[in-house]
Amino acid sequence: SACTIITLDTVDSTNDEAMRHVSQGAKTPLVVISREQTKGRGRLGRDWLSEPNGNLYITFALRPNVPPDRLATITPWIGVNLCDLFASYYRITPQIKWPNDLLINGRKAGGILTEARIDADRIRDLVIGCGLNLARPARGWTGELAGRAIALGEVTPTPIDINHFAAAVIGRVLSAAQTFQADEHGKKLAQLWERYDALHHREVTLLHGRTEITGHGAGIDSGGALLLKRGNGQHQRFHAGEVTIA
Ligand code: BTN
Repeated sequence: SACTIITLDTVDSTNDEAMRHVSQGAKTPLVVISREQTKGRGRLGRDWLSEPNGNLYITFALRPNVPPDRLATITPWIGVNLCDLFASYYRITPQIKWPNDLLINGRKAGGILTEARIDADRIRDLVIGCGLNLARPARGWTGELAGRAIALGEVTPTPIDINHFAAAVIGRVLSAAQTFQADEHGKKLAQLWERYDALHHREVTLLHGRTEITGHGAGIDSGGALLLKRGNGQHQRFHAGEVTIA
């Protein structure tokens, strides 16, 4: 099926650029890729370092025919699909840390930022932005990224061609968008999630507002919420928060 791909040298944020296109009625799927971003954004209003050093900054605009209550499952679904792609392409075991961190060797190799406009109880415009580290920044990982970030290129012996990589990512995400519609009850999501879940059976702390909650990772529910097994043996679900592994 047809897909529009826009490639740019520079942009504020590929998510914002994609949203501008779709909110003006552009056909989907639409893909925006930029060599660098001047205002790359991450989750929780954070900046996303977006130097022109060969990393992939890519956003997909889609119009899935699903109710808004499935929105929170999109990021996890794309995440596990990207893990699956990396695992089959490179001899690595990537993991996903709820809800949107892609990890390699416990370090962050990428992230996903999904943004949507809801209209009369349906998803109108949807953008899914992926920032994927392929190379180390010119000055190495500094500041809060030191010891916490990693690039795919640091762990694969074969050099990664960004064009091949981008094509593989586009192919996988577009096919994942199709299977997403069919996975109404989150069965496939739960299966893949279990395979790549960085929190599986691990003791974790969830920072939820100002409250710290501890428990053991027990996967996600069909709505994309994090499940924690608490001290009393009960499972509890969380829709938001920041997880750290003990
Ligand atoms: C996160 O881990 O907090 C999510 C990071 C998402 C970064 C990507 S890069 C392409 C797209 N454009 C943005 O401004 N953000 C996403």
